[in-house]
Amino acid sequence: MKPVIRLKLPDPPTNGLGVFDALRVRRSVRSFREDSIPLKHFAALLWAGQGTVGARRGIVRRTTPSAGATYPLFLYAVVGRGGVEGLEPGVYEYVPEEHEVVLVKRGDVRRELYKAALSQGWVRDAPLSIIIAADFHRTTSVYGARGIRYVYIEAGHSSQNIYLAAASLGLGTVAVAAFYDDEVKRVLGIQRDPLYIMPVGWPRRPM
Ligand SMILES: Cc1cc2nc3c(=O)[nH]c(=O)nc-3n(C[C@H](O)[C@H](O)[C@H](O)COP(=O)(O)O)c2cc1C
Repeated sequence: MKPVIRLKLPDPPTNGLGVFDALRVRRSVRSFREDSIPLKHFAALLWAGQGTVGARRGIVRRTTPSAGATYPLFLYAVVGRGGVEGLEPGVYEYVPEEHEVVLVKRGDVRRELYKAALSQGWVRDAPLSIIIAADFHRTTSVYGARGIRYVYIEAGHSSQNIYLAAASLGLGTVAVAAFYDDEVKRVLGIQRDPLYIMPVGWPRRPM
């Protein structure tokens, strides 16, 4: 049996820019320094994108709203060599309930991901990319065809949270939606449908 690598993540920070300042400075960033991202920052971005915030009426809620609390979104992290402090390069899945990541594929796949994303250089160069993927069935099984719309809307919520968390911590990101879906699935080794790739890093220039 293949050894499973799981890593419990540090708690999200309580400091950083407030939401209105983060809204003001947020810009899409496509040019990154090579410096690695601290584990605490990595954890904060994943938590902002899909972390849990406690239960209401028996259902554990998340940082994003979700139609009928069906929570169809899943986050994956493509970590380059030296991209995140303390993490070996690979593809990780975020587990919101445990606030941990699980290694699902070993190795630095950034170059392959870049090719799957129409050779957008920022996907190759960023030390980290967060991929927002969906299991549509979770929402369409409740809402039928209209659930498809709900899932796309929810990806926007998650993406904006990641943008704002990044801006708050001085990191940069960009929402990339131009890619070949099947290629991204193959590169990550996942069944779920990728909706966004968000390369993350320290901006080369001030935002
Ligand atoms: C649905 C959507 C798809 C996008 N796809 C890409 C993309 O594939 N590549 C890219 O570099 N930027 C992409 N962007 C980022 C936009 O280019 C960017 O948000 C826009 O130029 C406005 O700049 P700002 O985010 O700095 O305000 C996308 C944005 C959205 C909302």
